[in-house]
Amino acid sequence: MTETASAVTSLMAAIADVGTDPRRGGYSRPVWSPAEKDLRGWFLQEAHSRGLDTEEDRNGILWAWWDLPAGRRVTSLEASRQGALVTGSHLDSVPGGGAYDGPLGVASALAAVDVLQAREAAGALDRRRPLAVAVFPEEEGSRFGVACLGSRLLAGTIPVERALGLRDAAGITFAEAARAEGLDPAHIGPDPAALARIGQFVELHVEQGRGLNTDEHLSAGAPAIAVGSTILGHGRWRISFHGQGNHAGTTLMSDRCDPMVAAAETVIDVRRLARVQPEARATVGRVEPVPGGTNVIASRLDLWLDVRHPEDEVTAALVEDIWRHAQQAALSEGCTAELTEESLSGTVHFDPQLAASLTEAVRRTAPAAPLLPTGAGHDAGVLAAKVPTGMIYVRNPSGVSHAPEEHVEDGDAVLGVHALADALEDLL
Ligand code: GLV
Ligand code: MN
Ligand code: MN
Repeated sequence: MTETASAVTSLMAAIADVGTDPRRGGYSRPVWSPAEKDLRGWFLQEAHSRGLDTEEDRNGILWAWWDLPAGRRVTSLEASRQGALVTGSHLDSVPGGGAYDGPLGVASALAAVDVLQAREAAGALDRRRPLAVAVFPEEEGSRFGVACLGSRLLAGTIPVERALGLRDAAGITFAEAARAEGLDPAHIGPDPAALARIGQFVELHVEQGRGLNTDEHLSAGAPAIAVGSTILGHGRWRISFHGQGNHAGTTLMSDRCDPMVAAAETVIDVRRLARVQPEARATVGRVEPVPGGTNVIASRLDLWLDVRHPEDEVTAALVEDIWRHAQQAALSEGCTAELTEESLSGTVHFDPQLAASLTEAVRRTAPAAPLLPTGAGHDAGVLAAKVPTGMIYVRNPSGVSHAPEEHVEDGDAVLGVHALADALEDLL
């Protein structure tokens, strides 16, 4: 394996201290937090050191261009970027997330540029088009609530007014936060010109479940790399329970309208209803009682529901069922409830031709690399509606993600860079 591919481990080591979260463990790097902005700065610096031309577009997406040399362009620089090959991922994280979800794809993309630049310098690579590395903001939706917000805005798959009005936990709107970062809210939204620059998009990502970590997959010689086949359909809903805020000591148990109790019953129902639905996943990972005091019966509680299933109709029916039970729980506690859909993405089937090309290339590094479905959402899934996209996964021996235990062995990360570089070379 070449020295250049191993740059991925030093790149990851260089950001290992950025955004650590001592309270939750792992990393908390919400979009445009000091930590995420440090990572954006790190990315731009690393891109410059490779001679890449960087820019931030009107939706806050970072681009780093490895253009064709001036003498080899048959058109202007801007025109030559149409239909380029793009790779990359994101640098934001969930609260208390792992080190690899997002940054591994960015670091691997930079290391793959190293490999390809070395091959070109050695006369072993003859490119026909530019390669760009892209970094998408708010992939996790952990600050403004809608996952893959940057790629959704680029692709025009979220109404702009809705995106601009999204609020973070401090009440700051996306428009205000974007303006504070030097973006013009009037120019946020669908960007057909930027989209036209993506001929194909390939995202390398840490594998986030047990796709490559069964006993069989952890044995010697088992593939550390896979190619993406599908992304499970998924959505987010908010259920708000309204009750009567009151005193924990003076309010008799028989006199309470406690939204916490209605929410607790709902959480149990979510698991019970999802378990009888094969292939469904339903999660309540976040609740916010208002005002949130130990000696205060809450007046309101917001509960966020994440539901995933291969078929949109099943997802809809499951959410409907959960909602019916939530209303019942609210009623029996003397509360009311309201339901708001925050996002919904259907199951994605990655472009079969691109998946075949990726598989052929990846198998030069990992001969038995399988095609793997995933239950995790990605910018590649959003962009798949507009351009051919594909994904490469790197083994995660812990089988855990969105948590500090998420892990990638250095050797596997280097294999991932080789697989990505080969895949990009075939497509360039
Ligand atoms: C993002 O990683 C998601 O699947 O929610
Ligand atoms: Mn991710
Ligand atoms: Mn994630």
